[in-house]
Amino acid sequence: MSNTQVLFKSEPKGLPTPDNFDIVTVPMPGIEDGQFLLKNYFLSLDPYQRMLMGGGWTYAPRFLAPGDLMIGRVLGEVIETKNADFPVGTHVVGRLGWQTHVVSDGTDLDFIITPKQDVPLSAYLGACGSTGTTAWIGLKITGRAKAGETVLVSAAAGSVGGTVGQLAKAMDCKAIGIAGGPDKCKTVVEDFGFDACVDYKAPDLEAQIRAASPDGVDVYFDNVGGAVLDAAMANMNKFGRIPVCGVLSAYNEEGASYGVKNMHLFFDKSLTMEGFVLNVHKARWPEARAEIEDLIVADRLISRETVAQGIENAPSAFIGMLEGKNVGKQLVKLV
Ligand SMILES: NC(=O)c1ccc[n+]([C@@H]2O[C@H](COP(=O)([O-])OP(=O)(O)OC[C@H]3O[C@@H](n4cnc5c(N)ncnc54)[C@H](OP(=O)(O)O)[C@@H]3O)[C@@H](O)[C@H]2O)c1
Repeated sequence: MSNTQVLFKSEPKGLPTPDNFDIVTVPMPGIEDGQFLLKNYFLSLDPYQRMLMGGGWTYAPRFLAPGDLMIGRVLGEVIETKNADFPVGTHVVGRLGWQTHVVSDGTDLDFIITPKQDVPLSAYLGACGSTGTTAWIGLKITGRAKAGETVLVSAAAGSVGGTVGQLAKAMDCKAIGIAGGPDKCKTVVEDFGFDACVDYKAPDLEAQIRAASPDGVDVYFDNVGGAVLDAAMANMNKFGRIPVCGVLSAYNEEGASYGVKNMHLFFDKSLTMEGFVLNVHKARWPEARAEIEDLIVADRLISRETVAQGIENAPSAFIGMLEGKNVGKQLVKLV
């Protein structure tokens, strides 16, 4: 049996190109006692993978080196086993790399999927997986959103952002999105059920946000940083919270990221800005997943996906996601 892998080849200058990746096919080793063989069905593409390719900064212990397997989560099924805890047919999610097959002993997994009727398997890499869990943690734990408040979120047509707004609506908050272009804004309102969505690529974002949320913003869930953050901060209410989830505006940039321009607003309005990372909150993942599963089953939340076909198309799908071509979770279907 063979395994197809995507390897890191070279550091991109700005937006990655297909030349920054290598695709190789290698033989699969046999499994030993305690191990099992996974056939991977879906690969999750995520903006943090750009950080790992170098050029700027990373929160990981190190950047990828040429020849390393690209890091990423996969959803796979056990097809051979010498581990009684992982019988054939078990579905799992783990950060096991951009590859079609992998041998595991179970210690490197995120979770075993307990399939739930009406929840598609692929949702365990999206709304019920790391991005949905990120949305839940940032909104509820870091952002401390409460019913009746106004929640603003950037990258609102994406995987984390789209789930943030849907969770906010389920909590009886008002949800305002920020996305790139009129088509994405339409999707955010019509498909994800936000109250409004404003286009950061159109002029005067600050005034657009003010018009969409005349009572001000209580929680700004920041996925992008940069000038969008300035416009959001200008619209915050007193005691507003800004959970910082990511800095999409900077992942393809070299050097230090854009600074906060309106420092005085922190004391004028008693604002709190707090970063968070998913892995720090592992104990809350099952609770988040269960709540999101229930919302999907009740038709109150959708796990929207953009799906590329075949591992050989993973690099181009990844580049497309960084350019904003995705709506919802960007996946690659591997088989
Ligand atoms: N803290 C954590 O533990 C954690 C965990 C997971 C994800 N994250 C972060 O969450 C954020 C969203 O991730 P995701 O997986 O849901 O990705 P995503 O939003 O599904 O996809 C990326 C989107 O970013 C937008 N974008 C690209 N360049 C931009 C720019 N310069 N300014 C504004 N928006 C830009 C594009 O949408 P438009 O077309 O609208 O521009 C694109 O569709 C990222 O910052 C990611 O790093 C953090």
